[in-house]
Amino acid sequence: MPYQHEFPQKDGLVYLNHAAVAPWPQRSYAAIEAFSRENVTFGATHYPQWMKTEQQLRERLKTLLNASSSDEIALQKNTSEALSVIAYGIDWQAGDEIIISDEEFPSNRIVWESLAQYGVKLLQINLEGPEPEQNLLNAITGKTRLLAISSVQYASGIALDLSRLGAACKQQNILFCVDAIQSLGVLPMDVDAINADFVVADGHKWLLGPEGLAVFYCRHTRQEQLKLHQYGWHMLADAGNYTTKTWRSAENARRFECGSPNMLAAHALNASLGLLLEVGVDVIEGRVRQLSHYLRKQLQQEPDIKLLSPQADRFTAGITTFHVEGVNQQALYQALMKAEVICANRGGGIRFSPHFYQTEALLDEALVRLRHCIKACG
Ligand SMILES: Cc1ncc(COP(=O)(O)O)c(C=O)c1O
Repeated sequence: MPYQHEFPQKDGLVYLNHAAVAPWPQRSYAAIEAFSRENVTFGATHYPQWMKTEQQLRERLKTLLNASSSDEIALQKNTSEALSVIAYGIDWQAGDEIIISDEEFPSNRIVWESLAQYGVKLLQINLEGPEPEQNLLNAITGKTRLLAISSVQYASGIALDLSRLGAACKQQNILFCVDAIQSLGVLPMDVDAINADFVVADGHKWLLGPEGLAVFYCRHTRQEQLKLHQYGWHMLADAGNYTTKTWRSAENARRFECGSPNMLAAHALNASLGLLLEVGVDVIEGRVRQLSHYLRKQLQQEPDIKLLSPQADRFTAGITTFHVEGVNQQALYQALMKAEVICANRGGGIRFSPHFYQTEALLDEALVRLRHCIKACG
């Protein structure tokens, strides 16, 4: 693997948990190290240079999303914060309806549930069946204001056809919001092709960045429609002017960023995105799909293992979740972690989530240890 040197993980560690918190590449470590040295030696003397790095990060995010301008990109603390900016920015009317799936990560459920106080109704739709997108679209009524969906579900790993959902939303004048944390960096994203109004994703999963820095894409035409709830010097049109008594909010997505940025994380995430863009998201997608297929094929050969992730190609991304019959899943999860197979216990099974730089040989090693752990837990 040409990029393996970027991931000098501990010998023997089998890290299959990119859907939770990913290891950083070497270059992100180097970026943080250099930034720390810079702070120790010079303080913020070179702040203009830091701002250039931050702007480069915005440009890289723009490229990843295929947004028309970095003016549509706001940096936020995390996915939940970005979703909250959206949820509390819309002028809801009592009776409005929101559609999500019934298997969303809490970040993309709680915030919509919290709008019940304004009389907003949340519909949670089951994705089972051959056309999960149609299940969501069938729930649309004249009162639907917003469809908010994960591009890839965190537990089952099902990847949805966002173009189909976005086209239907556009046609019926419904806002379309995508939680892309489980696909950005692995599957190509094109905000125009999918007609997204909002796309949110934290940087610590498939983007290989640190926790605490997320992207919030907000389409130009929607920015003024979101009421602001956070204010400060940074979100002003004239952000560097500290003496003016009259002000207005920036006419771009910076209006959602109230104060000083997370420069430390920006340096790391910028380096991580540099790597992803250098490799190319289409190459990463191909490789992650190969690894997922390989893993699933091997798992299917085990009589006591049942795949919980949908098997059709079109639903496949980086997450594979499986259940082992007759074994306590929590005990199995703990045994795997002890055996240094780093994974997660999600959706009633074990979740493996390999990234592009890993190999089939690593997956084979995970499977050897898995069989051993099953025996020990059985
Ligand atoms: C689909 C999805 N959304 C959001 C999050 C996390 O959100 P945040 O960035 O607010 O921590 C996760 C984490 O597992 C997730 O899987």
